[in-house]
Amino acid sequence: MLDFKEYGIEMWDEEKIASFRRTLLTWYDTEKRDLPWRRTTDPYHIWISEIMLQQTQVVTVIPYYERFLDWFPTIEKLANAPEERLLKAWEGLGYYSRVRNMQKAAQQIMTDFDGKFPSSHKDISKLKGIGPYTAGAIASIAFGIPEPAVDGNVMRVMARLFEIDYDIGDPKNRKIFQAVMEKLIDPDRPGDFNQALMDLGTNIESAKSPRPDDSPIRFFCAAYLHGTYDKYPVKAPKKKPKPTQIQAFIIQNEIGEFLLEKNTEGRLLGGFWSFPIMETDFISKQLDLFESVDAVLETLSQKAVFEQEYKLKPVWSKQHFAPIKHTFSHQKWTIELVEGFAKKAPLLNNKKLRWVAPANFEDYPMAAPQKKMVQKYFKN
Ligand code: ADE
Repeated sequence: MLDFKEYGIEMWDEEKIASFRRTLLTWYDTEKRDLPWRRTTDPYHIWISEIMLQQTQVVTVIPYYERFLDWFPTIEKLANAPEERLLKAWEGLGYYSRVRNMQKAAQQIMTDFDGKFPSSHKDISKLKGIGPYTAGAIASIAFGIPEPAVDGNVMRVMARLFEIDYDIGDPKNRKIFQAVMEKLIDPDRPGDFNQALMDLGTNIESAKSPRPDDSPIRFFCAAYLHGTYDKYPVKAPKKKPKPTQIQAFIIQNEIGEFLLEKNTEGRLLGGFWSFPIMETDFISKQLDLFESVDAVLETLSQKAVFEQEYKLKPVWSKQHFAPIKHTFSHQKWTIELVEGFAKKAPLLNNKKLRWVAPANFEDYPMAAPQKKMVQKYFKN
């Protein structure tokens, strides 16, 4: 057990803890949001919702959640789903390793747990892609096991409740918030307790525009009572995503098909289809260019690298498109579109390339930057 004093935390006595639980749960009983995954205790359904909700807002998740269950109604169906279908189900949600891991976990459930979702916290934690937060959420919501589900929302609320001076963005501090939650969690209604904190953290005690006066637990909140609410939680600023220049080649053949390439597995956006793209850095390296090379020469060179890499000789168009921007958590892409027209020549088979008519793009899962390119190109 963590020594709260050592971390500057005044833990409450049992009576205050009981009163806190009652206050929070009474509020939840009247204010809770009616969400599709709150109308079930099926661990498979709850698992899907928790994975989707990790980086995505509730309103966005709802239609994805419903379609996912429609396409993969059982763990077995998910375990056996073809890759293209799997990515299509997640298309637009981002962070695709989430759904790839879900399929691996579904396969684990089929082989290691007889096809039945495991019901102990220990076994749930063994599944691929399920970390401490998700394991706690599923164990508490689906099985009534008193395990905390500590995410950024919960850490923010706890930091304010106890004026915790430890950075909530630093993974080594997670154990502090976990220990506080282990003391507070309601043993009889752990799933509701965790979800009450999720609702409170998202809607009232939010990060950007909190409404502390509306919080049902304000009279338990040390930061509220001491006028230090603005100081909590402590959080170091995030590293900025790295600016990255990308060149996208939109190549059309004489029958109106476009060149698409499947991204290499295991890399960023692996498995998705895209117009061929290259980092300008990569192009420069290929040519061993110096920084002083002028813009005209550089553009010509980019095209030369494409011709070399893809063994195609397009007629390049002079059309100019405004660049497209897309930000990932670690990279900020500026994508320049380059248009060309080529003969429907045989394609290299060391890359996964296809000529595809726009009417068939639907069959090729595309991630957000490619979708933006398609939109831009076909709107022009
Ligand atoms: N965010 C993460 N899990 C959630 C849940 N079960 N309900 C609402 N928001 C959530």
